[in-house]
Amino acid sequence: MSYTIKVNGKSRTVDVAADTPLLWVLRDELDLKGSKFGCGMGLCGACTVHINGNPARSCVTPIAAVGTANVTTIEAVGDSAVGQKVQNAWLSLDVMQCGYCQAGQIMSATALLTKTPKPTDKDIDDAMSGNICRCATYTRIRAAIKEAAGLPTEDKREVV
Ligand code: FES
Ligand code: FES
Repeated sequence: MSYTIKVNGKSRTVDVAADTPLLWVLRDELDLKGSKFGCGMGLCGACTVHINGNPARSCVTPIAAVGTANVTTIEAVGDSAVGQKVQNAWLSLDVMQCGYCQAGQIMSATALLTKTPKPTDKDIDDAMSGNICRCATYTRIRAAIKEAAGLPTEDKREVV
């Protein structure tokens, strides 16, 4: 079946089954490979994109459920001022290790700071708890979110 969805500001038409996960469409049909497959069950956050600005697990979002919503992926998150700040903070604190989870982390962090520009630790915990990092970069992720928000961070020697 044919679906036209809006991805990173452009209309894209794909011919797939109704229950095809959005992640498959992004990676295999649209060649947007920044969103990663981790668990395929909505449990790890590696596949996180924004749907109308809200973080969504694209591995458990069927294409038929997307409708006319705006989908944003890691490839375009830097187009927003907040996304750019988050990416810069990630680079400045050298957050990544293997990098596999990091697109999802950045998408969740950007959604958080867009809605809550000065998050508390609890806000960060609530927003980021569904994004798993096997390399355990959690301390640097928290510091980078605070840096992007212009909040005081821990001593950087503690987090690098
Ligand atoms: S791959 Fe989607 S949440 Fe793990
Ligand atoms: S950086 Fe390796 S899984 Fe997070």
